[in-house]
Amino acid sequence: MESEGFQLVKKKKAARPRSKQVIQDVVYSPQHSKSECLDKIQLARQIIETSEGHSSLKKNLDSIEKELNTVLTPHQNIKVSGIVCYGLGQLSSSRIARYQGALLLILKDHFQVPAEVYDPIFSAVDVEVLEVFDIKVLNRNEEGKRKVVETTLFFLPHCGKELYNNLLWTNWNPSLLSRCVIVGNSFSTIVQNVPTRTLKEHYMFIYQAQDMFKELPLTSLVDYDDVFNDVNIHVPCHNILNKSPEFWLENKEPKV
Ligand SMILES: C[S@@+](CC[C@H](N)C(=O)[O-])C[C@H]1O[C@@H](n2cnc3c(N)ncnc32)[C@H](O)[C@@H]1O
Repeated sequence: MESEGFQLVKKKKAARPRSKQVIQDVVYSPQHSKSECLDKIQLARQIIETSEGHSSLKKNLDSIEKELNTVLTPHQNIKVSGIVCYGLGQLSSSRIARYQGALLLILKDHFQVPAEVYDPIFSAVDVEVLEVFDIKVLNRNEEGKRKVVETTLFFLPHCGKELYNNLLWTNWNPSLLSRCVIVGNSFSTIVQNVPTRTLKEHYMFIYQAQDMFKELPLTSLVDYDDVFNDVNIHVPCHNILNKSPEFWLENKEPKV
């Protein structure tokens, strides 16, 4: 799914009404109840775990910490210590969100770490469902600007480019960026598809980051091609260490 048509939801400002654009362009089906939704997510998880692509997913997940420990921070025994997920969508009304939610559970169990989520579109049922899975629902819109303390896996499935750009800007130095593993729309595909002028003007950090992450694909996990299309695992790579100190100085906060 293309993220065009979606806008990053910004924090509320007192004087201006909140943008309604986030939900305008999506046709969501009627909401499922909490128990239907839980069942469907469990089923989605089983489907992913018995899929043709599951062993490659597992291999890729296993490679993340190895990669970080050999390439970026040898001898430090780096571990993924938490998951932050933005832009999952409505579990109660979207099949895509339920499959992505199932992958979130797989990621959480694989790394055995706590997970936090935020999407301004969550319904009361979504929040209840996430709580059953022991996933913390944030009530603050971070606009993607989460500065890492420990190595964190960010899951941003089909999010607007602003969110990726904000996340990269917030962590724009070699020691923080090398602690960000990002599962989301392929940076290299974004750079291929968006005119350079637009990238430089609005998405400078995605533009600059494309060669600093190794991209591992998510393939053959589900039969639908609108669930994980364009979504890759971005693992920080050694190029982060090769940039000059001046490179990191161009770090003006994105406008959105
Ligand atoms: C293109 S939709 C993707 C939904 C779902 N993951 C999918 O693939 O169908 C982008 C999602 O980002 C969410 N979003 C917008 N601004 C956000 C923000 N500041 N923080 C977290 N999520 C946000 C929207 O509500 C929407 O659900």
